[in-house]
Amino acid sequence: MTPDLMEAGAQRREAMLQRQAQGGGASGGRSAAYGRIARGQEPDFAHGVALYLDDISVSFDGFKALNALSLSVNVGELRCIIGPNGAGKTTMMDCITGKTRPDSGRAFFGSTIDLLRLSEPEIAQVGIGRKFQKPTVYEDLSVFENLELALAADRGVRSALFWRLSGEQLDRIGEVLTTILLRSQAQRQAGLLSHGQKQWLEIGMLLMQDPRLLLLDEPVAGMTDEETERTAELFLSLEGKHSLVVVEHDMSFVDALTQGKRTVTVLHEGRVLAEGLLSQVQANEQVVEVYLGR
Ligand SMILES: Nc1ncnc2c1ncn2[C@@H]1O[C@H](COP(=O)(O)OP(=O)(O)O)[C@@H](O)[C@H]1O
Ligand SMILES: [Mg+2]
Repeated sequence: MTPDLMEAGAQRREAMLQRQAQGGGASGGRSAAYGRIARGQEPDFAHGVALYLDDISVSFDGFKALNALSLSVNVGELRCIIGPNGAGKTTMMDCITGKTRPDSGRAFFGSTIDLLRLSEPEIAQVGIGRKFQKPTVYEDLSVFENLELALAADRGVRSALFWRLSGEQLDRIGEVLTTILLRSQAQRQAGLLSHGQKQWLEIGMLLMQDPRLLLLDEPVAGMTDEETERTAELFLSLEGKHSLVVVEHDMSFVDALTQGKRTVTVLHEGRVLAEGLLSQVQANEQVVEVYLGR
């Protein structure tokens, strides 16, 4: 990064932040969703559990989208969630992130943070990052600037206008660029990236916030086979450093992620139908029935 580029970046960032402050930007509410500023609470992972859902139920007009769902994910674990359309996978993520309030049940992040007492932005601040299906990057900014902005959003608009990247932050951006396979594209305008690359960039923007838990809803939808394979490698490289919950339809992707040794959870009608290795759940008669019976 030359000083010139950084200067130009700073100017564009200023314009972007002003737009953001006025409610514009690539996605409304993004700045609220990002941020790790003065986290009121630090999660406690001493017991090894990152996420604990207990007996969660959600109804929409009497229809139970989640029906006594219980699930727990370990610290650093990469967990795949599968299940037919309408099983409640997205609703589960909505409950974890505070978008939907369950009618009953409990949800904990680590052993102490009661997610059902926190607002959506507070949940993002304690370290839960969510990737939606559609990529929402700032198309007119470079890849680098998108990552820079994800950092800057931390500090509130005013101070973000006057700050400069520290060496440490530059290193972090470089690290994330490598992780998301976009190092050679750093100066490219995000709007010119392929669909898959935009998805990676958005994951990178989440990573800038260093979330402890990442929720990814159908992350490889619309990707090429090669992009899908590289996404599996990317997620595997995050395992351990973060806990990941990946909802996915694509079984070859789930196979690549689990490699015959990681747990898969099958949701059906708002609850856990089966859990185990992919080969085990695929051999489960009830699971077969649910998938074939549609
Ligand atoms: N906001 C909502 N209002 C009414 N019904 C909803 C709403 N969100 C989800 N549902 C219903 O809840 C069920 C589960 O949906 P969803 O969680 O999106 O499933 P999945 O992601 O597993 O495909 C579906 O039958 C869906 O139609
Ligand atoms: Mg869904």
